[in-house]
Parts: sequence; structure tokens; C-alpha cells
Amino acid sequence: MAPRPKSRFAPAAWCAAVLFGAALGAMAWPGGPAAADPAPVRVIQLDMGDDAEPPLGLDPVRVPENNPQTPDKIALGRQLFFDPRLSVDGTVSCASCHNPKLGWSNGLSFAFGVKGQTGGRSAPTVLNAAYSDTLFWDGRAPSLEEQAKGPIANPIEMGNTYGQVTQTLKGIPGYVDRFKAVFGTDDITIDHVAMAIAAFERTIVSGNSPFDRYKYGGDRGALSAAQVRGMELFRDKQGPNCAKCHRFDDFTADLTDFRFHNVGVGSDHPTPDPGREKVTGSAEDRGQFRTPTLRNVALTGPYMHDGRFATLEQVVDYYAQGALANPNLDVEIHKFDLSAGQKADLLAFLEALTGDPLVMDPPALP
Ligand code: HEC
Ligand code: HEC
Repeated sequence: MAPRPKSRFAPAAWCAAVLFGAALGAMAWPGGPAAADPAPVRVIQLDMGDDAEPPLGLDPVRVPENNPQTPDKIALGRQLFFDPRLSVDGTVSCASCHNPKLGWSNGLSFAFGVKGQTGGRSAPTVLNAAYSDTLFWDGRAPSLEEQAKGPIANPIEMGNTYGQVTQTLKGIPGYVDRFKAVFGTDDITIDHVAMAIAAFERTIVSGNSPFDRYKYGGDRGALSAAQVRGMELFRDKQGPNCAKCHRFDDFTADLTDFRFHNVGVGSDHPTPDPGREKVTGSAEDRGQFRTPTLRNVALTGPYMHDGRFATLEQVVDYYAQGALANPNLDVEIHKFDLSAGQKADLLAFLEALTGDPLVMDPPALP
């Protein structure tokens, strides 16, 4: 059996986190990293050992005190996540747009919801969403619990109402039993639905990428020479400057600063998406979107909030030309020149951010 990946955290910090009482991420690593496995498909183990440790490169997942992780709750959340009966016409589940086989996104520029309707933004991956306190491209939801309620009632996504969805679930005896076992009440509320889904999402984390093994696992062979050169370009302030916002250093390896920036995307649209401005009401925030993590980015195209780029090469070309000028363009965005070789290096580095695959089949539904 391969050794378990070590936490990036020093043991003392790890213990402190445990003592803090948060039920930490439900990750279990029965076989360790899948290095020796020819088909490295890992199925999440739903029970939580007390040795639940985050994958290499990731922090422990923080869990709200009022919604502790339990195996039953995670299993229930998993069923709800894959259950199309949460949508108004029984056709669309969370997994329709956050498909494990498509990097927990949908491979499309825009999301198709009930009745074939499309929304105006691309579906971000759910992988590692557990690390963000500001969900959605504009950060309007402060927690996974709050976030999960959004798509259910969104007319374009699942088109349902909270009343209707709880009514539907109450009509399915298997769910009534499960909700009772998990939450101890006969009533099924929308908050309980959201809590279970959130608990499940907190297990959808992926680390132990070649980048993590190189940077945090001491494996100097994990990255190719090209990828190491690409990493240097990634944080070259005079050059691509990507790490300014897609941050990694000794303190964080989230590949995002969790902040909002205007990188010009969508400013060329006749009626640009206001982004963060819509949440804060401040004109300064116009056209700002949350920096997405670049973990697993090779799996989650197309890219940007409007899904305008099919490939990472197009993304790099976009930044290299200085993005799209607009009055709110972030000061950290500037033109840069890369040779063909350097561009290939940078792209090779982005490929090295793909963590252990996390694929699962839909569970049996009650
Ligand atoms: C019709 C497609 C669709 C369905 C169905 C859907 N989503 Fe999404 N999801 C999206 C889109 C599009 C966004 C981004 C919307 C925005 O930023 O305004 C999103 C955003 C998210 C995010 C935020 C990720 C981040 O990084 O900010 C999470 C988490 C998420 N969805 C989970 C869910 C859950 C849970 C369900 C089921 C209850 C669900 N989604 C159903 C399309 C969908
Ligand atoms: C000023 C901060 C900033 C800098 C610098 C920056 N990014 Fe971004 N990046 C963002 C933001 C914000 C978004 C989301 C933009 C949107 O969709 O409107 C983004 C989106 C992306 C995406 C799309 C990810 C997805 O899931 O759709 C990729 C890929 C990306 N950036 C790569 C890079 C690379 C490579 C560099 C360096 C050449 C870079 N970024 C520099 C802030 C930044």
C-alpha cells in the first residue's frame, strides 16, 4: 500500500484544528494516493475515520459548527445531489451541470437547465468549492448551505420552489426515513436539504496533484523541467503574473486569492454582466468576478464566467495581449510576451494542477 499523503499542515496546526472541534473533511484514503493504480479512480469513502486528513496540498475543510459531517448525512447529500426529482419537471439534478465525469462541471459555456433553458454564466466545478466562503462567480452566497438553495429555485436551473421540493421528498418514504435518521425530525425542510448537500460537497476535494507532490511532498521528480519553468513564469511579476491572483505560496495553495477582480472578461458584451457590482452595489466592483481556483483547471473547460474560451491556450493568449481594456480593469493585468516554448511551459504547468481524480457513479436513489 502506498503511503498516505501528508498534510501540508504541520502536525501541531493539524491537532489544533482537530481540537477546535470542527468535524473535518470526510476524506478517507483507504489506498493512499493512486500512484500505482492503473485506473486511478477513487471512490469517496463515506465514513469518517478520526484520521480524516486532507489530500496533499489542501488545508482541512472547514465545517460549520451547526452542520457537522456525519456519514449518513454525506450519503443523503450525495443522493440529493444526483436526484433529478429536485427539479420542477424531474429532469435536472445538480449533477446534470456538475457532472463528475466532466470535472464536476458540464463541459459547456453555459448551463442548460429545465426545459432546455440556458443561463448566462458557465457552471463552475464543485471540486474544492468547500474551500470558498464566497460561492458563485460573483460571490453572492456565503456558504455551501446557502448556495445549494439557489439552483433549486432558479427558474432556469431547476425551476422548483422550496415548498414543492420538500413536498416531493416527503412523498418518498426512503427519504423520509433518511432525513429522520440524519436530522431527527419527521419534517423535511429546505435547510435540511441544503445542509445534507453541503456536507456531501465538503467531501468533493481533490489534491495530491503533481504540483502538490513537487511543492509540498518533496518529490522533485513530480514536475517535468518544462512544468518547473512554467511555474516560474506563472509567478513572474513582470511576466504573466498569474500567481498574483491565482495564489500559491507557503501559506496557501488554493490557486486563488478568493478575491474579486475585473480581468476584462465580458466587458465586450453589449450588456456586460455586472458581476460583483450586483452584490455590493458599488460601481467600483463592476465586472469583477471571484478568482477561480486553477486546481483541476485542465478538466473544467470551457473557461471564464461566460465560458468564452475552449482551451487554456486561448486563456493564456487573452492575458498575454493585456486582456480587454475597460475602465475597471485590474491594475495587475498587463501585456506580456512569451516565446512559443515559454507558452508551452506555462500550459504544461497548468496541466500539473490536476489532482487525484474523483469520479463516482450516481448512487441508488430511494
Ligand atoms: C442548470 C445547471 C445547474 C444546475 C442544475 C446546478 N448548478 Fe450549480 N452552478 C451552475 C452555474 C451556472 C453556476 C454559476 C452561477 C453564478 O455564478 O451565478 C453554479 C454554481 C455552483 C456552485 C458555486 C461554485 C463556485 O465555485 O462558486 C456550487 C457549489 C454549485 N453550483 C452547486 C450546485 C448544487 C448543489 C446544485 C443542485 C442543488 C446545483 N449546483 C445545480 C449551474 C447549475
Ligand atoms: C488580477 C487577477 C488575475 C490575474 C493576474 C490572473 N487571473 Fe486568471 N482569473 C482571474 C479572475 C477574476 C478570473 C475569472 C474571470 C471571469 O470569468 O470573468 C480568472 C479566470 C481564469 C481562468 C478560467 C478558470 C475557469 O475555471 O473558468 C484561467 C484558466 C485563468 N484565469 C488563468 C490565468 C493565468 C494563466 C494567468 C496568468 C497569465 C492569470 N489567470 C492571471 C484573476 C486573475
